[in-house]
Amino acid sequence: MNSIRRIKGTQDIIGPECERWVAVETAIRKVMRLYNFSEIRTPVFESTELFARGIGQLTDIVSKEMYTFLDRGKKQITLKPEMTAPVVRAYLENKLYAKSPVNKLFYISPLFRQENPQAGRLRQFHQFGAETLGSADPYADVEIIVLAFAVYERLGLHGLQLRINSVGDAEDRPKYKKILQDYIRPHLNSYCPDCQHRFENNPMRILDCKNESCVRLNRNAPKLVEHLGEKSQTHYMQVKEGLQAAGLSFEEDPYLVRGLDYYTHTVFEITSGDLGAQNAICGGGRYDYLTEELGGTPTPAVGFASGIERLLMVAEKQNLPLSGESRLDVFLAPLGEAARKHIPVWLKKLRQAGFKTETDLLGRSLKAQMREANRQSARFVLLLGEDELHKQEFTLKLMDIGEQKALPFNQAITTLQQHLNPENG
Ligand code: HAM
Repeated sequence: MNSIRRIKGTQDIIGPECERWVAVETAIRKVMRLYNFSEIRTPVFESTELFARGIGQLTDIVSKEMYTFLDRGKKQITLKPEMTAPVVRAYLENKLYAKSPVNKLFYISPLFRQENPQAGRLRQFHQFGAETLGSADPYADVEIIVLAFAVYERLGLHGLQLRINSVGDAEDRPKYKKILQDYIRPHLNSYCPDCQHRFENNPMRILDCKNESCVRLNRNAPKLVEHLGEKSQTHYMQVKEGLQAAGLSFEEDPYLVRGLDYYTHTVFEITSGDLGAQNAICGGGRYDYLTEELGGTPTPAVGFASGIERLLMVAEKQNLPLSGESRLDVFLAPLGEAARKHIPVWLKKLRQAGFKTETDLLGRSLKAQMREANRQSARFVLLLGEDELHKQEFTLKLMDIGEQKALPFNQAITTLQQHLNPENG
């Protein structure tokens, strides 16, 4: 019989690996709190229309990567491929604008894209991210970028590169589009079929093509930053000044356009040399027209999202411990039936006192129990046999230094606490 296997591009996250995830999630929550962002959780599936309108029909995500299906009511449903459109939908639907002029929201969420799986590219992956809705201030852009770096710093990630660009606004874009099309048109036949397809409606995405001959043809393409109107220029300059003031170094990349259609003004990506071909750990930017596109009143907004799997890959490459503490504090080892009866009470007491505690569940010999305690890297073993019961004490084994001593029942918790936190003793 064929055994059932998980879907290509998905992962099981188990045991110690989960602890690394929890450590990352805890760091994210702590930093988000410091920056005064509050959490939002949205459904795993949404109306397909949300993404088609929000992200753009011609983007790779919408045209070929979405998990879309008809439900029993013949409604078109899509498993969310990103969080920005759902956050904007929830913002409008829950009238968050009426509660506060600026809404600062963060999320940690699974997402789904039917891409070709490879290292760092999955079909179910996870992002953490943040969105600031209601502010056009360039400082909101700066805060978003600083926030992403604050999470990486808290986890100890280093050597990340920030690239930024401005893609202008609705006034700059049509003018530039014509200039770019004029540059591309004479060579259009030499571009890849995807780019030829993008030429009419979305020529800016041609700048993002990774195809070798397209990259070569694009080398001298006109740059949008050189055709920005005054308003966009000022915004971009203020973002750069803000980043400098915040002590973040960055590189300007005039051809950075990103793969989603909703961006205006600032776009950015953070990459790591410790990742392979899929080297973007974070992407984001401003999206001042998305709220309107989804039926709301114009609301300036900016955000970022960062891939958690990629973040963990960088952490592993950089040997960061991520404080995933899997060590056991106490292994409680009973010997004989009489001792066994006392175990549930002591398990409860030790766990209530905050010790990560385990006992033997297989009726093993003392030797086998010691082996198990070692396997789980227990700091302490508390031995309870007939003799100990009689004397109302444990035999305490200090596993790291290989010593043992008698430990009266009534001193057990405080003594263990002193051993774990000597400065409090
Ligand atoms: P994105 O560039 O599509 O932007 O994704 C952001 C990050 O998610 C990427 O830099 C990468 O780390 C991770 N990621 C994307 N696809 C995959 C995948 N298939 N497997 C593993 N990791 C992946 C967005 O999603 C925008 N919503 C970002 C944003 C927020 N813009 C404004 N606000």
